[in-house]
Amino acid sequence: MPLVAMKDMLDHAYRHRYAVGAFDLVSLDFLDAIVQAAEQSRAPVILSLAESHFDYFDFELAMPAVEAAARRASVPVAIHLDHGHSLESAVRGINLGCNGVMVDASHYPLDENIARSRKVVDMAHGCGVPVEGELGYIPGVEGEDAERHPGEIRYTTVEEARRYVEETGVDFLAVSIGTVHGRMRGEPKLDFDRLAEIDRALGIPLVIHGGTGLTDNQFRRLIEHGVTKINYYTALSDAAARRIAENGEQGVNSGYTGWVAGVRNAIATEVERCIRLWGSADRADAVLAKASPWDPVEHLIVYNVKGLDEAGVQAMMAEGRRVLSKIPGVREVFTGQAVKEDASYRYTWLVRFCHPAVIDSYRDHPEHVAFADRYFRPVASERISIDYRQVR
Ligand code: 13P
Repeated sequence: MPLVAMKDMLDHAYRHRYAVGAFDLVSLDFLDAIVQAAEQSRAPVILSLAESHFDYFDFELAMPAVEAAARRASVPVAIHLDHGHSLESAVRGINLGCNGVMVDASHYPLDENIARSRKVVDMAHGCGVPVEGELGYIPGVEGEDAERHPGEIRYTTVEEARRYVEETGVDFLAVSIGTVHGRMRGEPKLDFDRLAEIDRALGIPLVIHGGTGLTDNQFRRLIEHGVTKINYYTALSDAAARRIAENGEQGVNSGYTGWVAGVRNAIATEVERCIRLWGSADRADAVLAKASPWDPVEHLIVYNVKGLDEAGVQAMMAEGRRVLSKIPGVREVFTGQAVKEDASYRYTWLVRFCHPAVIDSYRDHPEHVAFADRYFRPVASERISIDYRQVR
C-alpha cells in the first residue's frame, strides 16, 4: 500500500501548506537512508531519480529496489523521474515504475517547452501518471559547486506560467525564483513576491529545485507561498562524502565496507532534518487516508490458436513482447504456454499495466492495434480477456 499516487500526496501537502522532500538517490545507501528517515519521522516522501545521475548507477537495475523499498515502507512513498529530458525518458521511467515524471524542457524557448511538455503530459496522463514541468531556468549541477556552472537564472514570470500550465496541463510546476542547483557560497536571493504571485495565479503545487544551501527561514517562506515539493541532493551527497573522509582520517583499513560505514546514518540525519523543517513529519497517516494506493493492473488473455504451427506461435509471441513492452504504461509482457497438454486454453498473454488508466490507452495505442489486427486476432478467435486489479 504505501506506494501511493503522487498527485494525491502533493495535493494534501498543498492544502495543508507543508512540503514533501524529493530526495535524489544515487545508491542503495541513499535509498535506505531516505526511507529510514521518512519512517523515523512518519513523513510522506518522494524517492527521486535524476536522469543526469544515470552515469553513476544503472536506472533499470535500481528501479526494482526502489519499488520494493516503497512498497514495504509503512509511510506513503512516490517514485519520481527527475529532470527527464525527452518523451522517451518519460516513457522509460513510467515503464520501469516511476509514478511521477518531470519533463525538463526549460532551456528551450517557451513555445517549444510547451510543445515538448504537452507531449509528455498527454502520454503520462494516459498512464495515470502526473507530470512536473519547469519554466524559467535554474542553473547549476546537482552535487557540484554552483560557482562552476554560473549560467544566468531565468526567472519564471506569472504570465508565462499561466500560459504554460494552461496549454500543457502539467500537474506541478517547478519555478525559477533565484535558487540554483548545487553547492552555494553565501545565501541565495529569492524572489518571494514573484513566488506569491505565481501561487495565487496557478493554485497548483509548486516545486523548488536546488534545495541545498537555503536557510531555514527561506524554506519556511517558500512553503508559505505554495511550494509543496522540494528537490534536494547536494547536501546529502556532501554528508555522505564527509563521513567517508572521516572514516579515512580515522585510518580505516577494512576495504569498501569500512570506508562507507556510517554513510547511511549521515544521509538519514540530513533527510530527517529537512523533513521536520519542511513540515512533513507526522503527516504519513493523514496522507495514507487520502491517497490512492498505486497498484498495477493485469491484462490477461488466455487463448487458442488456429492456422499457425508452434514455431509461428512462438514468433508471434516474440513480436508481441518486443512491440507491446514499449507502449507507455506497460510494466511487463509475459507470454505463456499451458503446462498441461489438455488445458482448455493453450496460451496466455499477461500484460502488467502501471495503472487502470492504461487499460484504455493501451487498447487504443496504434502499436497495439497494429499488432492485434495483423498478428493476433486473425489466429486467436478463441480467447478470454480480462483486466484485474489486485485484491488485498
Ligand atoms: P540540490 O542538489 O541543489 O539540492 O538540488 C537538487 C535538485 O534540484 C534536483 O532536481
